[in-house]
Amino acid sequence: MHEAEAAVRSAIADIDEPRLRRPLAELGVVQGVAVDGATAVVALADPLPRSESWDELARRVDAAVGALAGIDRVDVDIREMTDEEKARAANVLKGAPPPDPLAVVDASAQRTARPRTNPFTDARTRVLAIASGKGGVGKSSVTTNLSIALAERGRDVAVVDADVWGFSLPRMFGVAEPPGLIDDVLVPPETHGVRVISMGFFTAEDQAVMWRGPMLHKALEQFLTDVHWGEPEYLVVDLPPGTGDISLSIAQFLPRAEVIVVTTPQPAAQKVAQRAAAMAEKVELDVIGIIENMSWFRGDDGKQYELFGAGGGAELAVKVGVPLLGQVPLVPALREGGDEGDPIVIARPDDEASQAFRAIAEIVDRDIKPRRRAHPELKIS
Ligand SMILES: Nc1ncnc2c1ncn2[C@@H]1O[C@H](COP(=O)(O)OP(=O)(O)O)[C@@H](O)[C@H]1O
Ligand SMILES: [Mg+2]
Repeated sequence: MHEAEAAVRSAIADIDEPRLRRPLAELGVVQGVAVDGATAVVALADPLPRSESWDELARRVDAAVGALAGIDRVDVDIREMTDEEKARAANVLKGAPPPDPLAVVDASAQRTARPRTNPFTDARTRVLAIASGKGGVGKSSVTTNLSIALAERGRDVAVVDADVWGFSLPRMFGVAEPPGLIDDVLVPPETHGVRVISMGFFTAEDQAVMWRGPMLHKALEQFLTDVHWGEPEYLVVDLPPGTGDISLSIAQFLPRAEVIVVTTPQPAAQKVAQRAAAMAEKVELDVIGIIENMSWFRGDDGKQYELFGAGGGAELAVKVGVPLLGQVPLVPALREGGDEGDPIVIARPDDEASQAFRAIAEIVDRDIKPRRRAHPELKIS
């Protein structure tokens, strides 16, 4: 191979495909490289259909190749992989060894059985489960804005909408595209730097979903194992309201989950929220803190009006023995942002509520260290 072309290939081999977070060479994305004088032409085949992530891919390749000595022009040409190429890429995502680029591969390469492993037992990913005793207290709003605030801190964040009856995350995040499918591997869409999977992508929004406990368990398992997540730093899970079967499933699939309980300020709500915390502890999940939502409304006069009473979050925190992570005010823009898919932390970053979400993200990310050991059996005494 021409020396300059080899240099280009090695400059791009380890670049991650933006949505899959795996190296181009491993996925078989690099199709051809040609160098003519100071111009490099790079032909790529991506496993996912054209989307914004192709622009990011082109940018990454352009930057890496453009930095090479003697190259001042880079042409990046991207097409979508053929079904055969996708099947091979899917095998890599499922854990098969990367293909030997020089081998002549049988087009009917056998499909690797998907290993049904749950990637979130890994110590690298922190799992935050957002819980509440009842619906309507702002769990999904917290999930959405806290996830984006964590992503803004440079974290790789994935979100699972485990509220399979009352899913609302696709709308709240404003997810525009459905999950990608590479052979039989699902790839979550990414919005505002956060990857999201929800039952909402698989059922019409006006269709009632009737789930029984075991089906819920199965759905959650599939969200965790049949989706290519890579290795996010955070997995934020929006739990359904209440304390039902899901806690057991979460405890089984995500034994290291750190539970955050969302409550409103009035004492009645606090009692229900306390049951959610008690349930989490019963299945040995760590509750790491409380978020009080709808804490006050600030009038045009600048005063705080405590429409739903005061002190509920702080009292609950004392009862459970965990910190109050923050208080989020009631602001119309927060609801509007949720309805329109334009989350408030993005739409109005200076709003009091956005500041509260960023402060909570900072506490969770910087100050709270997961208490439970990932591998207690490895503990050295
Ligand atoms: N702090 C807030 N200020 C204004 N509206 C809010 C606030 N928190 C939640 N909402 C609105 O209240 C409704 C219920 O919130 P949601 O996050 O869906 O709760 P849950 O997921 O607990 O059912 C939504 O319409 C949401 O936009
Ligand atoms: Mg919800």
